[in-house]
Amino acid sequence: MNSYLNIDHISITFPTDNGPLEVLKSVKLNVEQGEFISLIGHSGCGKSTVLNIVAGLLRATEGGVILEEKEVTEPGPDRAVVFQHHSLMPWLSVYDNVRLAVDQVFKRTKSKQERDEWTRHNLELVHMSHALERKPDEISGGMKQRVGIARALAMEPKVLLMDEPFGALDSLTRTHMQDSLMEIQARLNNTVIMITHDVDEAVLLSDRIVMMSNGPSATVGDILNVDLPRPRDRLALAEDPAFNHYRAEVVKFLHERHTKPGATATKKSSEQNDEADQGADQSRPGLKLASG
Ligand SMILES: Nc1ncnc2c1ncn2[C@@H]1O[C@H](COP(=O)(O)OP(=O)(O)OP(=O)(O)O)[C@@H](O)[C@H]1O
Ligand SMILES: [Mg+2]
Repeated sequence: MNSYLNIDHISITFPTDNGPLEVLKSVKLNVEQGEFISLIGHSGCGKSTVLNIVAGLLRATEGGVILEEKEVTEPGPDRAVVFQHHSLMPWLSVYDNVRLAVDQVFKRTKSKQERDEWTRHNLELVHMSHALERKPDEISGGMKQRVGIARALAMEPKVLLMDEPFGALDSLTRTHMQDSLMEIQARLNNTVIMITHDVDEAVLLSDRIVMMSNGPSATVGDILNVDLPRPRDRLALAEDPAFNHYRAEVVKFLHERHTKPGATATKKSSEQNDEADQGADQSRPGLKLASG
């Protein structure tokens, strides 16, 4: 049976000054509707590239992405993206950045007043109601990120693609955003693929954590099923042995690769990628192993 979202053996090679660079090799993942997937892996391994291919912003050199039995060939409102670096329209206010997306998606199904209320509601969710009329260059980086999240959530996408969405936020806001995201996702049953460097965040939010091997030719190294009942309560989980076990598994995956270039941390990883570990790891001395 076909799964809801099928990332089918995608490989991608970029032309570079030093010749072709194979960034991803045969990345394969079947995602069910309503599943929450985290993508984790060292800096530069190709996580954003995977997300961009699913978003339809990049085409794989080989393989492809199928969503509900249709091949993804371009971006669409059924797949909203929260980018690693915000992507707001600089000439539009905070309100208008979200409203534009709301108008695109709900033009026919919501009245003007409903679209206004929906825009405000989503901005309230990310605590941005106080800055509706400000332009992106008049707000902080974390605030811009929150507006990007509000815009994506407001589109009620089938698939929500988030590239380190909470990385720039202070820990209190991040906690709040994680809880809202869990709540929204439970309500709407949307499918989420989120890139994160934060192990606690990955375990708290995910049904499965996909751990990527290091590049070049990065692929899916291992997949961890996080079998914790929902709704999840971060305080209770902090002392839950199962939570800590999952957490340790992810740390182990990252750490073994981090320290031992030849290590085979996983059962089904592509060991041939491990030589590349040293280089990639240097770039991420601050690899986040615990959330603030
Ligand atoms: N358009 C491109 N042309 C050439 N190389 C590219 C291109 N896009 C990405 N790359 C290379 O592909 C590799 C993976 O990049 P990507 O941004 O997907 O990594 P990442 O896992 O998201 O890293 P980070 O955690 O630092 O965000 C990097 O080596 C990057 O330099
Ligand atoms: Mg990235």
